[in-house]
Amino acid sequence: MTSPGRLRISRREGFNAAHQLRDPTLGEDENHRLYGKCVNLHGHNYVLEVVVSGAIDQATGYVMDLKRLSDLMRAEIIQHVDHRNLNTDVDWLSGRIPTAETLALAFWARLQPHLPKGSLRRVRVHETDKNWAECSDDD
Ligand code: NI
Repeated sequence: MTSPGRLRISRREGFNAAHQLRDPTLGEDENHRLYGKCVNLHGHNYVLEVVVSGAIDQATGYVMDLKRLSDLMRAEIIQHVDHRNLNTDVDWLSGRIPTAETLALAFWARLQPHLPKGSLRRVRVHETDKNWAECSDDD
């Protein structure tokens, strides 16, 4: 059996936050046409899933200590967004419409500088059980 040089590992962290999908530069009718009932303030139990790849460290058996990845996700993202209004309370999201897509891009930008070059592979934001958006390096 040949073994791949790189492996992928993943960590999930949850957070609870409120948002509304509303473009402040547009009127009520246009916002309703674009976003429907999501124009109203409402909350989600989000799940953030991050995938990192790398070579296995023969000494530890780890690609990366998942506790370290968890701590990074908490310090850079979760503590800023948990129990907050994403439209108004997070300075690094200000001026952006907080869709799951926006969050995936913003979360990628928060994590990427703190991880070894090329190791961040995927940031997936589950907004509900049915909806997620993903930022990935392979498309
Ligand atoms: Ni929503």
